[in-house]
Amino acid sequence: MPERCNNRAMDYFKLIEHRHSVRAYLSKPVPYEAVQAILAAANQAPSAGNLQAYEIYLVTESSQHAALAQATRGQEFLAQVPILLVFCAHPKRSAQRYGKRGSDLYAVQDATIACTFAMLAATAMGLATVWVGGFNEESVHRAIHADPDHVPVAILPIGYAAETPGATPRRSLSDLVHEPKD
Ligand SMILES: Cc1cc2nc3c(=O)[nH]c(=O)nc-3n(C[C@H](O)[C@H](O)[C@H](O)COP(=O)(O)O)c2cc1C
Repeated sequence: MPERCNNRAMDYFKLIEHRHSVRAYLSKPVPYEAVQAILAAANQAPSAGNLQAYEIYLVTESSQHAALAQATRGQEFLAQVPILLVFCAHPKRSAQRYGKRGSDLYAVQDATIACTFAMLAATAMGLATVWVGGFNEESVHRAIHADPDHVPVAILPIGYAAETPGATPRRSLSDLVHEPKD
């Protein structure tokens, strides 16, 4: 645990320790203000050249939830959760300045960082999430009526947990981190 600098830093480390993927949700609605705060947090994310080459689709309609559950090959909790955010890359937006690197990499990174900010903001407010990346891209695109230039990258269900999953294992830092050899 890093040295405690101030309350905010400590809160962050607790937050990431307590975040776990949740795949069962209550039908209890998420307050509008909470959704807006999560979206505002996503909007604070860094992006290549500050171009924000991503788009967020807010999905609240049950028919679209069902279509998204199908698009994920039956991850049925998507049909139950009150809020779904679909983060899309916007490759053309980044390509205007960064060419192929922008369209192939930065736009996806922009979208994923924004999704991460949203996920952690939801956790900070006592809400549950899970990152959903296993889907048919075309089906998700169709379900949310996305602009042809937008590419779905991640779905973020947000709601109140109906289960309390424990921590999942992680690789050891010695395996993960490549430190300089002296
Ligand atoms: C890129 C990506 C794709 C994922 N896709 C799915 C998914 O389609 N369905 C799902 O239930 N979880 C999905 N997850 C969640 C992971 O399974 C989960 O984060 C991992 O098992 C670690 O568990 P934790 O989030 O509780 O720490 C995905 C996570 C990431 C980062």
